[in-house]
Amino acid sequence: MAISDRKGAIGVFDSGYGGLTILSRIRSALPQYDYIYLGDNARAPYGSRSFDVVYRFTLQAVNYLFAQGCQLVILACNTASAKALRTIQQNDLPGIDAQRRVLGVIRPTVEKLGELTKTGAIGVLGTAGTIQSESYPMEIRKMYPDFRTYGQPCPMWVPLVEYRESDGDGADYFVKKYIDALFAQSSDIDTVILGCTHYPLLYNKIMDYMPSGVNVICQGEIVADSLGDYLRRHPEMEQRCTQGGSIRYLSTESAEKFASMASLFLGDDVHAKQVTLI
Ligand code: DGL
Repeated sequence: MAISDRKGAIGVFDSGYGGLTILSRIRSALPQYDYIYLGDNARAPYGSRSFDVVYRFTLQAVNYLFAQGCQLVILACNTASAKALRTIQQNDLPGIDAQRRVLGVIRPTVEKLGELTKTGAIGVLGTAGTIQSESYPMEIRKMYPDFRTYGQPCPMWVPLVEYRESDGDGADYFVKKYIDALFAQSSDIDTVILGCTHYPLLYNKIMDYMPSGVNVICQGEIVADSLGDYLRRHPEMEQRCTQGGSIRYLSTESAEKFASMASLFLGDDVHAKQVTLI
């Protein structure tokens, strides 16, 4: 089949449920396309895993989505974007299929900073993996050499979300703890990136402890805008994304478990299928 005849849904991948916060914004902005969401819930969280493991799991997920026909895959996960995206783009894609694309969430988020910050002091809240990778400071330095970046790992936040404790009283302790630790690094911070796609699910609690007047960036809308822009600038890829308005949910956990949690996050009925990544 000629490359231009190959078409498929847009793949959206996350380690678990967090990517649903990105998917829902993408679908509101670009409802015409077909989507496949893949959550590696059985192996989440990724945040504390080593570089090699996150890379291997993410590559398996990308290959799975490619096998489903996806021509374009969004890593709706900061940890996977930080630890696996560059290697997949540079080392793996040319050998798999140089015409397909894998995009992440870090770059579009960083592009937004210029219009938000006044002090140039940026806080990044993320998983231990994302913060240790230094992906945000590196990307920020490339685009805005004068900005200063302060990172704070929040290792308990993803488990709070995955175990449905985001509104529980126990969540307050860990939300306050990491926000206080971030601002202890610099009181100049005026813009904070929620650099993990799970964190919007803790948004209300985060705002309870965030100093007033600070810009808090959720990535859903930013990634959706950036995808729309990408498709406008790359008509050859846009034509390879099928337009049936459908969504399929795949998870490495049981379909029932995924569906009940996902329905909670999306406020909608979800039918999922369990898959195995190898
Ligand atoms: N939601 C993912 C992120 O954006 C990671 C969560 C995890 O698996 O630790 O980083």
